[in-house]
Amino acid sequence: MYKYMLKHKLLTVFNIAFTIIDSALNVALALVLKLLFEAGSSGSIIELRNAIVVFSLYIFVSSIVWMILKALRASLLRKCLTDLKNQIFTKIIYRSINVFNEENSAKSISLLTNDINILEQDYYTNLFELLTNLVGFIIATIALIRLNIYIALFIFILELIPLSMPVVFGKSLSKHKNKYSDSIGLFTVKIKDIFSGFEVVKGFNIEKRILKDYSISNGEAELARYRYNIFAGITDSLALAFGLIMFLGTIGLSRYFVINGKMTIGYMIAATQLMNNIVNPLVALSSRLNRLKSTKLIEDKINDILNKEDGSVEGISKNSFDDKICFNNVSFSYDGEKNVLKNVNFTIEKGRKYAIVGNSGGGKSTVLKLLLRYYDNFSGDILIDGIDNRNIKAEDLYKLVTIIHQNIYMFDSSIKDNITLFEGYDDTDVENAIKKAGLGALINKLDHGINSAVGENGCNLSGGEKQRIAIARAIIKNTPILVIDEATSSLDNETSYNIENSILNIPDLTCIVVTHKLNEDILKRYDEILVLKDGTLSEKGTFGELMGKKGFFYNLYNVA
Ligand SMILES: Nc1ncnc2c1ncn2[C@@H]1O[C@H](COP(=O)(O)OP(=O)(O)O)[C@@H](O)[C@H]1O
Ligand SMILES: [Mg+2]
Repeated sequence: MYKYMLKHKLLTVFNIAFTIIDSALNVALALVLKLLFEAGSSGSIIELRNAIVVFSLYIFVSSIVWMILKALRASLLRKCLTDLKNQIFTKIIYRSINVFNEENSAKSISLLTNDINILEQDYYTNLFELLTNLVGFIIATIALIRLNIYIALFIFILELIPLSMPVVFGKSLSKHKNKYSDSIGLFTVKIKDIFSGFEVVKGFNIEKRILKDYSISNGEAELARYRYNIFAGITDSLALAFGLIMFLGTIGLSRYFVINGKMTIGYMIAATQLMNNIVNPLVALSSRLNRLKSTKLIEDKINDILNKEDGSVEGISKNSFDDKICFNNVSFSYDGEKNVLKNVNFTIEKGRKYAIVGNSGGGKSTVLKLLLRYYDNFSGDILIDGIDNRNIKAEDLYKLVTIIHQNIYMFDSSIKDNITLFEGYDDTDVENAIKKAGLGALINKLDHGINSAVGENGCNLSGGEKQRIAIARAIIKNTPILVIDEATSSLDNETSYNIENSILNIPDLTCIVVTHKLNEDILKRYDEILVLKDGTLSEKGTFGELMGKKGFFYNLYNVA
């Protein structure tokens, strides 16, 4: 984590320099106090006046130094955290879909929010304070040795106790902190989940049940925080108690020297103040070291993300689709037990149009997901122009194939942005996509037309409108292969017929359309219909051929 500081060398150097000046000023307070006390007890007005001037000057200088130091720290902190969060996010966003799917995204969300806050407090801020403590401690120790070696020795021996505490408690503290960080992560996800299902919660009157769920999760997170706080509290209090013992010891010892005439009262004040400058940092030092150690596991989590293979294959770059896609004996299971696809074989030829139909849960969406390499642990091969899709650069694969999903994600922006996905397309391209996707009437109706806001995940739009935007989004991308997963399910028959028609009319476009709307006029337009039944490809052929077979497709069609 310190490497983020090293990236801003000058700022770090300034931070260190001002930390040292600040610590030195802290220690100098002992000498200023000594001056003030001696002037006060001497009875000389001039000496007192001078001492007050020095004291005022001290307050002035140290508050300025303090302000500069805070500003420098804030600035370094901002830079480090921005870099760190950018680096983590960049790593995640460039992951391949299969690697991203391996993990609960909640973990990453929590890492970028909660864990970063813990790091800010317990690593960076703590590290600066640690430096203040360390420098203060060293300067005060040197000053005390020069003042009175016996008191210095006494403190040295006792200070071994608080210093050993990080060794004794560090591991458990780290464990508690990690549990706390994990449970806060789960809690974040819970809330996110509940809020995204808000309408279901209301519509089914399940507030009570959700509240119970929430309470459990909340309780667990707070319990973990409580345990951590208790544990940290115990170590802190122990350190504090040792500090007090040392404080009393020092007063007793200096008092002894004063009685024996080996020390003035001014020196005694200075020694006590110096002792404060030794003990306080030391007490803080041990708990700070503990806290620093406890961030180790968060650091590990971050390193895990940063070092994880992102699944992008260096592999083959492929810029055109020339011939065909072959599924050869493809079998796949999500959970390693139930085979969702079983020895599926088919060929998709360039420029032709294919429909995939079948029973619900039959594996239609899975076929598309495998083609797009959302998972790569299938057996058999999926070859695009003879190249295994697992060896094609992900970026290139998505330049060849566009998918329109069943569930459409909308960015909280305008209709136009959701069609172009923030790329600068020509107005004519945008208009063409709008026309083909059947969006013209909708856009004309809206006050702000194409610049109307769609709302959070498209909440201002109907399901059918979202589907048409998704279709326009795919059309404008203009890839040689278009894959559609029941993307017209929310549309009325006429609209869906028109859209499917306009897509099927795009020459040279290779289309694979999963559909459960078995409309004769449309189905007849496909070059081939692939029929999936419980994970096996049970039939394939043209509409006429399949109807003639009077098999599974025939039954599906007649039921629909
Ligand atoms: N992410 C997943 N994890 C586990 N099982 C899944 C997942 N997605 C789909 N399945 C299962 O795989 C089977 C096929 O699903 P899918 O391909 O979505 O069917 P279809 O699109 O034909 O309705 C179903 O039994 C479904 O429950
Ligand atoms: Mg499906």
